[in-house]
Amino acid sequence: MESQPRRTFLARLAGAFLGLGAMVTSWPLFRSLIPNVLYEPPRRFKIGPPDEFQQGVTFLDDRRVYLFRENSGFYAISGICTHLGCTVKFAPFARKETRTVRGLTFEAIGEFRCPCHGSRFHGDGTNYAGPAPRPLAWHPVEISPDDGQLVVDVGAEVDRDFRLVV
Ligand code: FES
Repeated sequence: MESQPRRTFLARLAGAFLGLGAMVTSWPLFRSLIPNVLYEPPRRFKIGPPDEFQQGVTFLDDRRVYLFRENSGFYAISGICTHLGCTVKFAPFARKETRTVRGLTFEAIGEFRCPCHGSRFHGDGTNYAGPAPRPLAWHPVEISPDDGQLVVDVGAEVDRDFRLVV
């Protein structure tokens, strides 16, 4: 015949295991009630008034976007390599060069180079060497109606001949 304390101990142990089992099996149900939300920075953002940007190129490193200014024209080219997503570097030329790429003639002040696997892109973002499968994306640039700041939308793309003239 078992003693009373031993029986009580075994009953408590069984209760603890049952409770633990119930918690483990109900966890997925409980977790499903909490939404999986990924907080990302907005795809459309202000970068400042046009006058703040010098002629030539400015790298917006927190957004991985290159903003170009040619006199009063602005355009933005993505700094994200189309191979595996490394940040490309802009390599300026000693002097402007006239290039014709994919039927478009432009004055190139430099080109993009990817430090990861050696892809190279013309100044208009067109890939010409290395494993990158396609050109860098061009993003629209607008003027905010509220305060006149430049707005870049990395959630949209535009053609290579896009210019915002202010
Ligand atoms: S990530 Fe740019 S070449 Fe591979």
